[in-house]
Amino acid sequence: MNKTIIVSNRLPLQVIIHQNTLKIIPSVGGLATGMKSVHAEGNGIWVGWSGIPEEELSTELSEKVAKEIRKEKCVSVPLTLDDVEEYYEGFSNKALWPLFHYFMEYTGFEEHEWEAYKRVNQKFAEIVLENIDDGDTVWVHDYQLLLLPQLIKDKKPNITIGFFLHIPFPSYEIFRTFPWRKEILSGMLGADLIGFHTYDYERHFLSSVKRILRLDAHFNQISYHDRLIKVDSFPMGIDYDKFYNAALEHSSNSKEKSELYRRLHEHISEDKKLILSIDRMDYTKGIPNRIKAFEYFLHKFPEYKEKVRLVMLAVPSRSNVTQYKKLKRETDELVGRINGKFATVSWTPIWYFYRSMPFDKLIDLYISSDVALITPLRDGMNLVAKEYVATRINNDGVLILSEMAGASLEMNEALIINPNSFEDFANNLKRALTMPLKDQKSRMKFLQKRLKRYNVEKWAKEFLKSLEETNELKSNIITK
Ligand code: ADP
Ligand code: G6P
Repeated sequence: MNKTIIVSNRLPLQVIIHQNTLKIIPSVGGLATGMKSVHAEGNGIWVGWSGIPEEELSTELSEKVAKEIRKEKCVSVPLTLDDVEEYYEGFSNKALWPLFHYFMEYTGFEEHEWEAYKRVNQKFAEIVLENIDDGDTVWVHDYQLLLLPQLIKDKKPNITIGFFLHIPFPSYEIFRTFPWRKEILSGMLGADLIGFHTYDYERHFLSSVKRILRLDAHFNQISYHDRLIKVDSFPMGIDYDKFYNAALEHSSNSKEKSELYRRLHEHISEDKKLILSIDRMDYTKGIPNRIKAFEYFLHKFPEYKEKVRLVMLAVPSRSNVTQYKKLKRETDELVGRINGKFATVSWTPIWYFYRSMPFDKLIDLYISSDVALITPLRDGMNLVAKEYVATRINNDGVLILSEMAGASLEMNEALIINPNSFEDFANNLKRALTMPLKDQKSRMKFLQKRLKRYNVEKWAKEFLKSLEETNELKSNIITK
């Protein structure tokens, strides 16, 4: 039976060694949380990194990890400490990630990191090739593996390869600054179908292909080395029912409430509201900006002092990379300053958690919050916004969403803001806090209807169907 091989840098599970014992936890981030349910349903395997460098594993532990990972239909790609430093923290997260999110000032181009990027993409290719059978489909994900499609195509020209980018593709003017721009584009073009979250990212990609590689692109098809490559947009959804059903269960009277739930609800009443934000601790998410804008809100509308609380959950991410360390320090300081400035004996304006939380607690946060404040400075999609909506079983609650998130294009009924404008932020937060229930419900219902219909399963099916259709393109070329 033919299978689909999913390939991404990070597996949906992460291995942690604690006092010489092995712990397996779910990975955080849109790619892993979204694709997890797609993988669970299918008969394929997932190739990726376990999150732990090889040097930190004894032979015995290494075997144990492989065994545990196999149970989950995953295959691990061993990365050394050097790989982690140069390919993952280095090229992927100090060059590609900031540049693709328009943070040019954070972007560094290091030749030795580029070499490591090529080396590790090759490593992934070898493991994929070991696991591939004729007739299989390979689905490669994200910016850490941009060279992989071509590496596989070179060895197995008849294998159907899909590639999906989970982050924005920047405009040509940004992308052209990249020293290895031709190699990156050629690597991606090894795929038969290249998918993006939005039409804008697709357009930017096509423009770079035309101008940098001087290739012909008609509508969304590129001719390249006697092949036709399809480019399209597929906005990623979530496992809607999973979030909705969890919210139903957590809200039911028979369910014993968690400590977190009880503490959150101590602060909710007719005139006291909770505002929620959840992100990986990443500079693209606009966390310091959000805190400063919240401060501005409290100045502009002082009547909300003691009436609102911002519950801010940030999950540690890429904490060895300098910009992430700086961001953590800046966030700690800002939260401290604002809490120090406004707190009273009975009120702290910001409740800040810097940790990962299990699914159950995430649900408690979502169902307890009157407003979700999702204000990234740049974000490929943003699944947290969609998860919040899916948990609003009574159709109440307001989503404030940055126009810089891919999700904003599908979520018109949210209050869409420019995260750089404190004025826009403060006015819309006030609007959310005072929005009549009827209005909240009608917006929420529209949002939910769309998310339920276009869930992650549908997203994956549409991508894979479109990928299968590329086989017809191939046979047309051959018969011509
Ligand atoms: P990104 O992919 O950039 O991290 P998304 O919003 O698309 O952003 O996806 C984040 C995913 O990680 C969501 O599915 C969310 O539920 C999960 N997540 C975010 N923060 C936490 C946390 N503190 N604990 C557990 N899961 C989290
Ligand atoms: C984003 C990226 C993913 C990545 C995730 C978590 O969602 O698109 O590719 O896996 O962030 O980041 P990490 O560096 O921990 O894998």
